Amino acid sequence: MGDQDSRAGTSYSTKAISLYCDEVHAPHGRAMQSAFDAPQDNAMPEIMVGQSEARFLSLLVQLTGAEKIVEVGTLAGYSAISMAQHLSDHGHLWSIENEPKHAEVARQHIAQAGLSERITVICADGLDGLAQIVQHGPFDMVFLDADKERYDQYQIWAEDHLRVGGVLLADNAYYFGHLLDETDDAAAVRRMHERTSLSFQSVCIPTPDGLMMGMKTRKD
Ligand SMILES: C[S@@+](CC[C@H](N)C(=O)[O-])C[C@H]1O[C@@H](n2cnc3c(N)ncnc32)[C@H](O)[C@@H]1O
Repeated sequence: MGDQDSRAGTSYSTKAISLYCDEVHAPHGRAMQSAFDAPQDNAMPEIMVGQSEARFLSLLVQLTGAEKIVEVGTLAGYSAISMAQHLSDHGHLWSIENEPKHAEVARQHIAQAGLSERITVICADGLDGLAQIVQHGPFDMVFLDADKERYDQYQIWAEDHLRVGGVLLADNAYYFGHLLDETDDAAAVRRMHERTSLSFQSVCIPTPDGLMMGMKTRKD
């Protein structure tokens, strides 16, 4: 059930409740803990998805049977490892990262997780990296988690390269609380939402940051 407050955006979660649910439902194995700690250990920004969001991505891969996955924004490989650890032997994840140090740390943690055969980290700017992998498409899942100001362009790429029934996800879909601002950057994130709603069955899941999810439908 909801009530007027929760429907209006109030969250009943607290830090303690979030931690409890993370630990009950989404405890880290060794590889996931190591990738989660890697940004702090390597003086990188600690901006990976939350523990429960990582578990959600992992469950979604299992539920949909996704085999070909694209991620924009690797950081230290935490979300990539989460998604790829349940890929079949035929599955592959391409993750694009423009910071060489991040890409290198991610490759180390992916190797530690035993997933080097399953995950390719492409060190490139988002759109350039996407252009490099089109021959592997159509894809089953695309996860956007890099520069939000180009989410509209990544969305167009995803719309073109996902199979019908494929899933598009975008984290930080509330744009850090600025989604409705009158700025060019906020407008780009809104274009992603609005375009997705036209050619996908979509929802913005009210996670703390907003997680947009859509299933590509055939265009009429
Ligand atoms: C939020 S972090 C990704 C977190 C990761 N998905 C996780 O949850 O473990 C965003 C990453 O995108 C990278 N990035 C930012 N702008 C980019 C761009 N234009 N092209 C590729 N990567 C970019 C950043 O360097 C950073 O490592």
